[in-house]
Amino acid sequence: MNPFKYGTIVSGKDFCGRKSLLKQIIGYIESSQNIVILGERRVGKSSTLYEAFLKCKTGRLLYVDLLGIKSIDALCRRILRAIVVLEQKTAWFDKIVKTLSYLRPSISVDPITSMPTVSFDASVEMKANSIPGVFTLIESLGKKRRLVVVFDEFQDILNLEDSHEALSLLRSKIQFQSGIPYIFVGSIRHKMDEIFTHHDSPFFKSAIPLTVEPLPYEEFSEFLKKKFATGQRKIDDEVLEKVFEIANEIPGDIQQLCEALWEISSEKEIISLDKLKNALELIFAREQKSYETYISLLTNIQLRCLMAIAKEGGKSVFSASFMKPAGFNNPSSVRRAITRLIKLNILFESGGEYRFINPFFRAWLPYKG
Ligand SMILES: Nc1ncnc2c1ncn2[C@@H]1O[C@H](COP(=O)(O)OP(=O)(O)OP(=O)(O)O)[C@@H](O)[C@H]1O
Ligand SMILES: [Mg+2]
Repeated sequence: MNPFKYGTIVSGKDFCGRKSLLKQIIGYIESSQNIVILGERRVGKSSTLYEAFLKCKTGRLLYVDLLGIKSIDALCRRILRAIVVLEQKTAWFDKIVKTLSYLRPSISVDPITSMPTVSFDASVEMKANSIPGVFTLIESLGKKRRLVVVFDEFQDILNLEDSHEALSLLRSKIQFQSGIPYIFVGSIRHKMDEIFTHHDSPFFKSAIPLTVEPLPYEEFSEFLKKKFATGQRKIDDEVLEKVFEIANEIPGDIQQLCEALWEISSEKEIISLDKLKNALELIFAREQKSYETYISLLTNIQLRCLMAIAKEGGKSVFSASFMKPAGFNNPSSVRRAITRLIKLNILFESGGEYRFINPFFRAWLPYKG
């Protein structure tokens, strides 16, 4: 069985390294300190946090994913659903259902798992004034047994029309719950900064920031080699170095490429550099449709700009040496193209450099063109 996992939370034997970061997070959880976990996409934020929680061996986790929320109603529903999931095996279940009676919860039993499930009346729209009640419920859960609350993809709260009001209400409740550690996880850097470091944000300096960096080569490459060895495969260091380079050192992307290398190789094989091409082709074949969709959304100018970044990198896109070969005469047209490419979630900006969100799309572009 292919031992490489990507796109999911990894823990236990699938989790590599990060000893000192885990220790730090565990310390903060144990002292009920609120923290914010930052890092690039697919670097391992959720996994690190989950692994730290497992190692604490204490309390329960209320995990709320805010990915894509667009309203306060959705925010409250996500939290309530997480609470119901957490409590469905306990005697508290009835009490919660009573507390939420204004949402007309209806209980049914899942025929497969025999677990009770709850659905709420969709016609009741929760507004800002529901937020305090929802957080009082969290508080009472915390009194019963030790609780750790996680808001993953927290930056998406800025999508709400009334995000400032929502954040103020959250903050005013959370600051009095000193026995419950709140952990905010997020990846779109400037948005998380807007929430935690802007003076006028209700969450200004309200949590200790921790950054999840890519795993160091020595540690992660050993881990990956052992995984290859479980299927009697050996991989050369020069191949792994190239894998790290193509994936920009992002652990999730490294594992995705290793998964493909495993698929196109067989037992007792020594995986050498020439296999990389086949592995990439496998990934391209799987992802081609979405690449083509992206391309269809671009104007010629935007595509030219993207091709140039794929080829030259995105460090000095306003220099003559970048613009001229790409056919641009002035920086403002490059800027316009890049703004659009960021909006489409094709590129992101990191420390003044424009990079591809999906490194395999970057690898595919020149290959294709
Ligand atoms: N410590 C680790 N050991 C091994 N693999 C890891 C580790 N951390 C992350 N990964 C790899 O990265 C993938 C993504 O991890 P995770 O979902 O935790 O990242 P994330 O930063 O929360 O991502 P997203 O930005 O999508 O929320 C995992 O499926 C795994 O392939
Ligand atoms: Mg995550």
